[in-house]
Parts: sequence; structure tokens; C-alpha cells
Amino acid sequence: MKSANPIPHSLPTADQPLALLGGLTPEQFLRDYWHKKPLLIRQAIPDFSGILSPDELAGLSCEEDVQSRLVIQQGGQWRLEHGPFAESRFAKLPERDWTLLVQSLNHHLPEAQQLMQQFSFLPYARLDDLMVSYAPDGGGVGPHFDSYDVFLLQGMGQRRWRISEQKDLSLVEGVPLKILQHFETQEEWVLQAGDMLYLPPHLAHWGIAVGDCMTYSIGFRAPSHQELIHAMLSFLQDQEWGDERYSDPDLIMSNQPALISNDMIGKVNSILQKIKITPELVGSFLASYLSEPKPHVVIDMPRKISLQQFQQRAKQQGLRLTLKSQLLYVGDAFYLNGEQMAVESDNIPMMRDLANLQMLTNFQLCEIDTELIWEMLHNIYLQGCICFGD
Ligand code: SIN
Ligand code: CO
Repeated sequence: MKSANPIPHSLPTADQPLALLGGLTPEQFLRDYWHKKPLLIRQAIPDFSGILSPDELAGLSCEEDVQSRLVIQQGGQWRLEHGPFAESRFAKLPERDWTLLVQSLNHHLPEAQQLMQQFSFLPYARLDDLMVSYAPDGGGVGPHFDSYDVFLLQGMGQRRWRISEQKDLSLVEGVPLKILQHFETQEEWVLQAGDMLYLPPHLAHWGIAVGDCMTYSIGFRAPSHQELIHAMLSFLQDQEWGDERYSDPDLIMSNQPALISNDMIGKVNSILQKIKITPELVGSFLASYLSEPKPHVVIDMPRKISLQQFQQRAKQQGLRLTLKSQLLYVGDAFYLNGEQMAVESDNIPMMRDLANLQMLTNFQLCEIDTELIWEMLHNIYLQGCICFGD
């Protein structure tokens, strides 16, 4: 019996006005604001009251596998502490002027993942994580800029945001945070629950809590060129390059045995020409690299069940990607958590749905008529990459 029918979140179209964007279509937003200028959206999510309480956030920051920070401002000094925190730490905090920040809430709470899905008018390869902050009155991380785009969605309470398109982005030296030496407020707003501010990269900003406040930051992934090249080189290391060895049957003696000869340089140069950076190779690299869990992420393993049991439950409840898993594709090649998957051509449309909607409904699963795909789904279930729908 099909007892549950999980409704997939629908993907917006480019010309669909979105309340989340203040009535702009994704096309208009991308053309006029993305990477270009800030946008304040009043009531982007009407009645948004947040997805967890300050106590629940503090509880998460005490957990080993959660990345958290405390920023405390005292006597004009900034202090930074890294979690996990002991519960007793919170009792010793001052009345005001501090903030608790918890990274990647979407890895821990399905509601956080659902919130991120509202931003699926942007590629998943660019979306990074949902960070949440709690601050009592006066708290914040100081005037700074980020190197990536960010949507700052107000949860509980109010926050005063100041922004500046200043050119001077010099930082205060000797402090554990990125704090701007000078900040000239050019515009400011007080955001209420459900209001949202989009900021392009490198735009100076400063958020200060007005009373108790929680802010949800939808952050983006913008690897540096250094990171991309480094990651590409490590991807190349794992490719097959043949087992031929360097050889020099034409070697001639030199009276400078320590010298690397032009002959040797030429030979190695031609070996290295095997590395051809084609769009296909770049595509595979990107899908593998960007779907790979970050080093601190530990994928939770499910209880082992047989293929039959798995099939039966999946047909009732549907399946979804687990919160810490990432599935990206390039052409017909699918990469799940950094690894390429073997997908038969008949199953490609279904895998695209799993990647784009991050779930498969029980109806879709009831229509599967080959055993091979069930084996593959069961396998990735046992690796903790998919789980049953709720
Ligand atoms: C915060 O939530 O306090 C900081 C967000 C930011 O400025 O990027
Ligand atoms: Co910021």
C-alpha cells in the first residue's frame, strides 16, 4: 500500500515571480542584483519565526560534529572561541555584545535543508550552507566583508544592518576576526522576522542585534583559484595515466652529473602533455570535487536492512538524499559525495530527479521495473547517502 506520498518541492522557473525575491523573477534577480548590488526584501518569508530556539542552537553548539563559534566583544576587544562548547560556558557569558554562530545547520535539521531548497533557483554547486547566529542586544561579528554572496534572513527578533560600498577594505591587524579598520555607513535598515537582505561578495556590512535576535545566513561556495587548481591536481592524481616509465636509451654522458639535462626536461615535458584539460575532464572534476563532503563531515550510517525490506519501505515512504549528502551530475555522469555512480541509461531521468529534487516519491519508486536500480539504491542507502522519506 502506498501509505505516504512525499510532495517534492517544486523547482521555480526563470520567469516565475518569487515572494522570496520580493516579487522578482530569478531571471531579473540574477540580471540586476546577483554579484552586483544589495537587495532588501521585506517579508521574503512572511511569518518566518525561525527553525530552532536559542536553547536548541546552544545545544547544537555543544555537539562534537557541529562547527560553532562564539564572538565576544568586551572593552573594545574582540574574542573568538571555537566549539564544541561545554553547556556551562553559556551561563558565564556577559549580558550583551556576544554572538553564537553555528555552521551548516542544513546537515543537522531537515527544516534547515527545506529552507535551503527555497534557493534552488541557484545551482546546488554554488550553495554552501545555512549558518545561524544568536545574539543578545548589541551582539554581532563586527564590520566586515565576505568573499561570497549571502542572503541574510531575519529569524526571531530584530537586527540593524548597515552596509557600505566603500573601497577601503583594510582589516584591523592582530584580531582573531576579519574586522574592517574603517566603516562608513551608507545605508541602514532594521530587519524584522521574515525580512531578508541579499549582499554581493566584498560588500562591507555590519549587523547589530536589537534585543535578542537570530539570523539565518544562506551562504555560497566560491572556491579560490588556488583551491580549484589544488583540487584539480589532486583529482588528476587519482586518474589512470598508464604504467610506462621514464626511459632514456639515447643517454649520453655528461661531465656535470648533477645537472638536469635539456634532454631529460624535453622527455618529461612530453610525458606531462598527457594531461589534457578538456571540458569533459573539468566537468568530471567539478562534479566530483563539489559533491565531496567537506573534511569535517561524517556521514551517519543507517541500520542495515535487506534489499527486500528496503524496497518495501521505499515503495511506501519514498526516498530522499540524507542531509549531509550531495548529488551532482554532468551530462549523464552522476557523482554522489565525490564518487562517480554507475547509472544505466534507462535510469538517468530518475537519477536527475533525485539530484534536482533531492528526493524520489513512492509513486516513482513503484514504477521501477529493473532489479539493478534497486540494488544500486539499496547500496547507496547502506552507505548513508539516501534515506526513507518522512
Ligand atoms: C551574523 O549572523 O551575525 C553574521 C552574518 C554576517 O554578517 O555574514
Ligand atoms: Co558577513
